[in-house]
This record gives sequence, C-alpha cells and structure tokens, in this order.
Amino acid sequence: MAEDVVRVGLLGCGHVGSALVRLITDNGDSIEARTGVRLQVARVAVRNLSRERDVALPASAFTNDVNAVVGDPDVDVVVEVIGGIEPARELIVEALKTGKPVVTANKELLANFGKELFETAEAAGVDLLFEASVAGGVPLIRPLRESLAGDRIRRVMGIVNGTTNYILTRMTEAGASFSDALAEAQGLGFAERDPTADVEGFDAAAKAAIIATIAFGARVVAGDVYREGISELTDADMASARELGYVVKLLAVAEEDVHGVAVRVHPTMIPSHHPLASVRESFNAVFIEADAVGELMLYGRGAGGAPTASAVLGDLIDASKNLVSGGRGATIGALARKPIRPIDEVESQFYLQLEVADQPGVLAEIAMQFGEHDVSIKSMQQIGIGAEARIIFITHQAREADLRRTVHALRDVKSVHRVGSVLRVMGDEPG
Ligand SMILES: NC(=O)c1ccc[n+]([C@@H]2O[C@H](COP(=O)([O-])OP(=O)(O)OC[C@H]3O[C@@H](n4cnc5c(N)ncnc54)[C@H](OP(=O)(O)O)[C@@H]3O)[C@@H](O)[C@H]2O)c1
Repeated sequence: MAEDVVRVGLLGCGHVGSALVRLITDNGDSIEARTGVRLQVARVAVRNLSRERDVALPASAFTNDVNAVVGDPDVDVVVEVIGGIEPARELIVEALKTGKPVVTANKELLANFGKELFETAEAAGVDLLFEASVAGGVPLIRPLRESLAGDRIRRVMGIVNGTTNYILTRMTEAGASFSDALAEAQGLGFAERDPTADVEGFDAAAKAAIIATIAFGARVVAGDVYREGISELTDADMASARELGYVVKLLAVAEEDVHGVAVRVHPTMIPSHHPLASVRESFNAVFIEADAVGELMLYGRGAGGAPTASAVLGDLIDASKNLVSGGRGATIGALARKPIRPIDEVESQFYLQLEVADQPGVLAEIAMQFGEHDVSIKSMQQIGIGAEARIIFITHQAREADLRRTVHALRDVKSVHRVGSVLRVMGDEPG
C-alpha cells in the first residue's frame, strides 16, 4: 500500500454503491486535504456487468466475481453494499480474517449475525464499521458507540423507517386512510411494491436490534424484538390522537433497567410537543435518554443513495485513517448476555377506544375490569354516538400482560360492543 493511498474494494454498485463512488470522485481532493488519505476505488463487484452505471470508473474495474474483490491483494479496505445475508456474510468474514477493514450498510446482516461479525473483527484486530445500517445518513452508531461510551444510556426511541413515517404523516395531516397513504408513498417511490418489511415493522425491528446491541452492549438479534406494524391503524385512531394532543409514530424503542433489556417496535402515541412528533414525511430521528447527557436527538435522512453513502464514506475515511496510521477505531467489545424482557413484562401507558351501550352503570362495569386487572385509568373521554357511546381511556403505566387481560375481559362485557384500537402512549403529557 502506498503511504497515503487506500484502495477500496466495493461489493455492490447500486443506489448506495454508485452514490459512494460519485462522492469519492467529487470530494477526493478535499478528503485528502482534510484527512491525508487518498481514496481510490480499485475493484467493484456487481451482479450484472452490462448494466449502465453513472460512475466515473473504467470498465476494467468491474467484475461479477465477488471473491476476486475481497481476495485482491490490491484491495486494502472492503465496502459491502450488496445487502442481504449471503454472500455478504461470507465475504465480510473472509475480508476481516485476511486483515482487511470492512464498512457495511447491511442492517439485516448485523441484526442477525452481528455477534459473529464483531467477534471476527475483534479476533483479527481490524475495523468493522456500520454507521449506515441504522437511520441511513443520520450519525447514530458513532455517537452511541463513542461519544456516549462513558454515559449510561437508559432509553433510545427512534423513527427509523422513512416509509412508515411518510404514511403516518399523510394520515395525520391529510386525513388519508392507510391504504391511500401507502399508494401515494408507492407512487413517489418511498415504498416498495411489496411494502411488508416496512409497514409491518420488520425493517425497524432489525434496526432496533442493532441500536440495543450498541447502546447496551448486549446480544440482541432481530428475533428478540417485539414487533407490531402500522397496517391496522385507522383514520379514527389518528383523529382521536390529534384531539387528545398526540401524534402516532412507529417507534423502535430500546430500554435497559435492572430487569434487563426490552426492545420493541410498535405504533406509539407521543405528545404533539415531543421532539419526535415534529419528524415528518420520510425523515428519521433518534431520541436518546442517558444519565449524564439527558435528552439528545439526532435527525436527518434515513435512506436514499447519497445520504446513506455519506455515512458509508465517513466510516470508510475512519477505517482508512486507522489503516494508514496503523491504529484501530473503537471496538464493540464482548457483548453481554443480558436478559431480554418479554413484552408481557414491559410497562407503558395505553390508549384504548371502546364502543359501548349508552346506558347507566356501564362505566362502573368497565372500570371494575380495569381495577381487577391492575390497570389504573389516568383519563377518560366519552363521546355519544346515537344509542352507543365511544369511550377513550388513557391508562397510567401498566404491564402489557395486565392490559391484555383487561382487553380480554372487556370483550366479555355485554354492554361493550367493540374494543377498538389499543396503542401504547409514551413521552410526557400533552401540554
Ligand atoms: N438504499 C438505501 O436508501 C439504503 C439505506 C440504508 C441502508 N441501505 C443498505 O445498503 C445496502 C445496499 O442497498 P442499495 O439500495 O444500494 O441496494 P441495490 O441498489 O439493490 O444495490 C445492490 C448492489 O449489489 C449488487 N449485487 C447484489 N447481489 C450481488 C451478488 N451476489 N454479487 C455481486 N453483486 C451483487 C447489485 O448488482 P447489480 O447492480 O448488477 O444488480 C447492485 O449493484 C443494503 O444492505 C441496504 O439495506 C440502503
């Protein structure tokens, strides 16, 4: 390796990979001036060699043999932006074992095989950096891993999926139904044709697992994350949230207390004055609560080729500087086996909507069910609708299991005609 030239082997040249090549081409001189490192994209692996790509690289740089890139002695650092589990996992392990630092944006891989990858990097003594894997262009992993390394993080709440945040923004602000807002997001290219991974919370759950792993130094995989999506939300839920002074967001929540770590993804009502409530459209934001720093929020573009490539490039510069200086960046260290709390034990406030017969004694009957299952009511609002009444309850903090039992019991009460949506409520009270 020439003293200050770092040769990059790029696995994948799609949205993120091609944006990365353009950034290196356009900003190479200023990167060198600021960091002393000259980045050179040496080899690029793609699936389809005949596809046109908007990057200033010679055709000879491209190959469809991924192993040839990792094994190339002219490659100093590997950037993996292929996505998916295999061959990405194998290639990253191989690169690390041969002493090549790796930068990846692959949330799916880290959320399922993070431990193996971190241990391989640790054993090889090389960097494995993955800033872009959560919240795209928003710097989050480095703040959690380095800036807050000495603080005690209590809770991280994030809007980490731009597609669902766009849909919820349209439902809140334009009164759109879920299906209309989804169709609009698909039309604008914010949502995939098969939107399941986004709208059912799988994407956010993978990111939540990575956040919990880094924030708490715990082994958390995507399967440990409790998950509910947004497809069941109705216009009525959004309207009553608004009336009560709340906004509904799909939140990834990672918390640690004396009982262990709890990680979940679900639609959540947050007060409209909460900083996360103002995060609109496809933006992402992560709200961190830690002992010494207090409250902290990071906000920006969670997806898109250029924003994601910006985060990948930051990691690439870091890994390259370390390579040139012979050093190494912050490591993850050994991940502790901390208890993962089952959702039944987790406590939240809840919002419940019931449709009941509008007759004397009904309220007492309902209140009794709450009381019998250890759920205490914080506030109640009744709206008459013909012979029926709609009652909206907000509870105090209650265990999920107790709330579930209450809902079950309410369904058996004759005067309760329908138990509507049940949503968690987080954050301070509406002002
Ligand atoms: N796009 C975003 O906004 C975003 C945000 C955050 C994180 N990420 C993560 O970044 C990664 C890349 O995303 P992307 O949007 O850039 O994906 P993409 O546009 O689909 O690009 C994937 C690239 O990998 C190549 N590829 C796929 N399988 C291959 C194989 N077996 N061998 C060789 N090349 C292969 C493809 O080749 P061809 O071009 O020949 O098909 C393509 O160039 C993923 O892990 C994703 O989760 C993306």
